[in-house]
Order: sequence, then structure tokens, then C-alpha cells
Amino acid sequence: MTKTEQNKSIVFIGSECYPFVKSGGLGDVMYALPKELVRQGNDVRVIIPNYKCIPAKYRDNMEFKGSFDMDLCSDGRTFYVGIMEYVLDGVCYYFIDNEEFFTAGNPYTTIVDDIPKYCYFGKAALAALLYLEWVPDIIHCHDWQAGLIPIYLRTLFATTPLSSAKSVMTIHNLRFQGIYGLDHIKYWSGLPNHVFGNDCLKVGENDANMFKGGLAYCDMITTVSNTYAEEIQTDFFGENLDGHLRYHKEKLCGIVNGIDVETWDPATDPRVSVNYDVNNVIELKKENKRLLQEEVGLEQNEDKFVIGLISRLTDQKGLDLVNEILPQILDGNTQVVVLGTGDTRYEDSFRYYENAFQGIVSASIMYDETRAHKIYAGSDALLVPSLFEPCGLTQLNAMRYGTVPIVRETGGLKDTVEPYNVYENSGNGFTFDRYETALLYDAIERAKDVYFNNRENWDEIVVRDMYKDVSWTNAAKQYMDMYIEVIER
Ligand code: ADP
Ligand code: GLC
Repeated sequence: MTKTEQNKSIVFIGSECYPFVKSGGLGDVMYALPKELVRQGNDVRVIIPNYKCIPAKYRDNMEFKGSFDMDLCSDGRTFYVGIMEYVLDGVCYYFIDNEEFFTAGNPYTTIVDDIPKYCYFGKAALAALLYLEWVPDIIHCHDWQAGLIPIYLRTLFATTPLSSAKSVMTIHNLRFQGIYGLDHIKYWSGLPNHVFGNDCLKVGENDANMFKGGLAYCDMITTVSNTYAEEIQTDFFGENLDGHLRYHKEKLCGIVNGIDVETWDPATDPRVSVNYDVNNVIELKKENKRLLQEEVGLEQNEDKFVIGLISRLTDQKGLDLVNEILPQILDGNTQVVVLGTGDTRYEDSFRYYENAFQGIVSASIMYDETRAHKIYAGSDALLVPSLFEPCGLTQLNAMRYGTVPIVRETGGLKDTVEPYNVYENSGNGFTFDRYETALLYDAIERAKDVYFNNRENWDEIVVRDMYKDVSWTNAAKQYMDMYIEVIER
């Protein structure tokens, strides 16, 4: 039997999962990777909090699996843990229920609330597995919110049946680490003193860092692209954990994300105005463009070069560069359509541009899944000029929809978008390396030049992008190989 033919049991634990609750790419991965691993024959279940913001159509149809009281804090304070179940696309989801912690509309509120919330969630997830008497081979923890789990596993749960499981931590974004006062985290986690040393949870004088602790204690660290796996070991990208990651580099590897090619399929996508495939994309994209222009208030003209931007509006995403050069790229033949929410300064600047360039720039300051799909389908190019990007999914969605990515060569953007080569007529998109406005401007100009002056080559990029394999099939196999290596260690 080859490695990938062995079936394994894996639990995914994290703070969000599409279609229940999603604020970004983590939610997409928590949905699509388990689905693919199940398709490949494994038993994969997912645990997330039962937030109040999960739509009623799911909440009302969850099955109650049981409940118990769990001691959490260092003074023995106990909390209710309810376990709800919902099965979707062959994957079993467990929702940890507790109204005290999960009442807010948004999964993340302030760090003051989030620290106790995810101390509770991590321990409750493990306690729920014990309650359900399901001991998986692998406990796969995602981002800082699940950071305490590998530590709980080897301390408070060390004498339970769960101790036979191996733990994996995936870094989706090192920017967020769950740092707060050490005494506070010690109180809420109820973890023993010895895990609060400099090699594990402690940072600075008196703080603890939940991600750092999890990275120290887990059996394997993965991150969502090979380039980001290298970058985070450097000072610039390491977010003060580069030394810690270099120390643990023997157990660190990168696996590039895929996307769920069923949800993201322009041929069947119910959110897209006119469905299309690789055989009719050139004609039908124009129709989608016209309908998108109408919907978002842009001048309806299929000859315009439409650039989409779908993003959390934070400094990670390179929006300072975009803001600086936006007026310059509006040459009379170009339109820009933005969809995003986030920092007020970016929301305001895009609103300003929409107002200043009516019919030419559109800014939808909102989170809207349907509009996102329409922008992928109706734009010619998608801009992702990130300062850093662990993987990035929007460029993958774009390519799947025949929309040409314009990206900065960092993290997963570098690993997934092959630069267009005019001499060989190869590549998937337009790229630039240093984080400079002039270079972003130049990449957009190069894209426009091919679009307006060499349409045949442009159309070939579109078709190449649609043929590119952006599915989870291969990446899921790499995860399986990694799981099996960890299990057999
Ligand atoms: P990140 O996780 O850093 O936000 P990714 O590129 O990995 O970035 O994933 C972003 C995901 O969120 C994509 O599926 C994208 O389509 C979606 N998305 C981002 N902003 C919005 C928005 N305002 N409305 C709808 N979908 C959005
Ligand atoms: C994070 C990263 C993004 C990545 C996503 C899913 O939110 O910012 O680059 O694609 O996680 O792994």
C-alpha cells in the first residue's frame, strides 16, 4: 500500500469555516480541505464554535449530541460545553455551544474577550472529543485561536485516551498571535506553570503568546505556501517569531492551498450572472462584465479593462500602493471595482475615489459572497498587490474564472502565479517584486498593453488560467503524506 492509500482520522479545529462563518481564507480552507480529504477516503470532522452569527438554516438543523460541565480556569471555575452536530457534503461538523462566549455577531471582537473565548474553545474541543469517545490520529489546529490545543494535549489531557493523537498546527497568518497578559492567560487556560517559560508561551516581560506556545508543542507545523514557510523565518515576515520558527524549522513545511472547485466553478456557479466555461469564456465574460458594470454603477461598456479587488481592507493587502496610484491607472479605458471591509482609512479612501470618479471606480464597502463571485466572473484582471500573503485564495478564484491576476511576488502569490512571458507566450498573470508603487503601476500597464494591443495573447492567458489546476486534489495528498509521516514517527 502506498502512503496515500492509508485512510486516517483527522479532526480540524479552528475559529471559522465556510459556509457557517467566514471572514477570509481560513474559512474557505476549513471547508474545502476536509471535504477533499473525505473524498480521498479519510474520516475528517471539523470543530468550530457555535457562534450566534451562524445562519439559522444551519443552527436550526443541528443535532444535539450532549453536554457537560468543564473546569477551565486556574481557580476551578467551570463552564457549560454543548456539542451540536451538522453534516454537510460528507463532512461531520461539531459546534461547541456556550452562550457566554459565542453570543457576539462577529467571531472576533476584542482581544480582551477573544483570549478567554479561545482558551475555552481549545479545551472544550478536546473535551468534546473525549465525550464523543472519538480519538483521531491527527488533531489539526488552525491559527492562534487553536494555539493552546497542542499544549492542552500534552499536559491536562496527557493521561487521557487522546494522548495517542498527534497534533499539527497550520499557520494561515502569523500577523495574529493571541498575545495577552501572562497571568490572564494562565488564569483562563488553567495550564501548569511550566508551559509559561520563554521556550513556550512567554513573550516579553509579562505576556503570553498562544500561537507561539502551540508552535512549540505541536508535532508538525505547516503553513500555506512554500515561500511563506521560508519568509516567516526572516525578520521582516516573522512577526517577532522568526527566531522561534528557525528553532523549530525541522518540523516546519509549506503546502500551497487549493480552492473548492465545485463552489468555485463558473460553469455551474448559481451566483454568477451568465455561466461559462473555457470554451465560451471570451464571449460570455463580456456579458458578465456588462451585468457587473450595471450592478455596481460603472459605465456599461465591454471594451473597458475592468480591474477587480476583493479583499479584507488591511495593510497586509497592499492597499497603500493601490491608493497612491489609483488616479493614474484611470486612463479613460480602465475601470476599478472594489469589494471589501476593514480599516476605516481604506474604506474611506475607496469611497472617496468612487465619488471622485463616478462610473469609473466602484467601491462596495461590504462583505458579500454573491457580489464577490460576480466580480470574479465579470472582471478582466484581479489585483492582489499584498505586502505579505501567506497563500492568498483570491488569485486562485480569479484564475478559475478566467480573470488574470496582477500580484506581488510574495508568499503564495509567488508560488501560484507564473509571470507572463511575452517571448514564450507563457504564464498566468502579471507580477512585480519590490513593494513600490512604480512597480505596481508598471505591472498594471504591462497587463493593459497585452489586453489592448495583443488581445490574442491575452485570451490565451485567460484560457491557460482556466485550465490551471487550482483544486485541492494534490495539496490534500501532500497533507496526507505529512500526516502519515507524523503518525509513524
Ligand atoms: P485572507 O484570508 O487573508 O483574507 P484570502 O485570499 O486567503 O485572504 O481569502 C479571502 C477570501 O475571502 C476569498 O474567498 C475572498 O473571495 C473572500 N472575501 C474577501 N473579502 C470579501 C468580501 N468583502 N466579500 C466577499 N468575499 C470576500
Ligand atoms: C490567511 C492568509 C491568506 C491565506 C488564508 C488561508 O488568512 O492571509 O493568505 O490564503 O489564510 O490559508
